[in-house]
Amino acid sequence: MGPVAVVLVAAGSGARLGDSIPKAFVLLAGRSLLTRAVTTAAECPDVSVIVVVAPPSHLDEAAAAVSAARIRAEVEVVVVPGGTHRGDSVSAGLAALAHQPSIVLVHDAARALAPGSLFAAVIEAVRAGHPAVVPGLPVVDTIKQVDAAGLVVATPDRAALRAIQTPQGFGAEILLQAHHAAAPGDPVTDDAGLVERMGIGVHVIDGDPLALKITTSEDLALAETLLERRPA
Ligand code: CTP
Ligand code: MG
Repeated sequence: MGPVAVVLVAAGSGARLGDSIPKAFVLLAGRSLLTRAVTTAAECPDVSVIVVVAPPSHLDEAAAAVSAARIRAEVEVVVVPGGTHRGDSVSAGLAALAHQPSIVLVHDAARALAPGSLFAAVIEAVRAGHPAVVPGLPVVDTIKQVDAAGLVVATPDRAALRAIQTPQGFGAEILLQAHHAAAPGDPVTDDAGLVERMGIGVHVIDGDPLALKITTSEDLALAETLLERRPA
């Protein structure tokens, strides 16, 4: 049972949320998205290291958000500057791991309400032998592939589609290889996508509605509602 590291990417600007501060520092019921995400990651009994990847302009604010989180004494938290694209920020986080853990989870601070139970389920599936594990929810809308002219190219069978969340879990060696193989600014939108390219099977487990990605102000309002309705 080797240690688990969490790379928590929080270096985005949050352009679609439209606040004057980077999204990670936006408050959700009084606590920032980053403080909430750090608290949940640090509560996981398996997690020993958390690398917070922050906007280079806001490293002090990130350290303050970490200080406001509840963190077990055994958990080491470091803050490092991120890059232009999400993938660059994940690479920066991986580069900051001093000791190679056996398992790495990559998580979006924007999914600030992802519960500890989801972290635990991802870790358990990696420990059970899956080299790459992602949480996914069934898709409720019909998804259509369209071309540049707005014409529908295909309508994939909805039953086979999943909306993929984070935390995503990997054997550390595989994730490091996948990131080394990627070019800076690679358009792939998640880490499992890089691993898929290596021909490695990615295992999907049940996602959690609480792990929604807070992208717009409507998402922030929805997250607040979910928080109020969550049993204490
Ligand atoms: N992220 C990052 N570094 C970047 C871009 C994104 O660490 N250069 C992180 C964000 O902080 C977020 C996660 O990746 O936790 C998912 O990205 P997204 O929800 O798109 O956040 P933003 O890029 O900040 O938002 P937007 O695209 O609206 O600007
Ligand atoms: Mg973005």
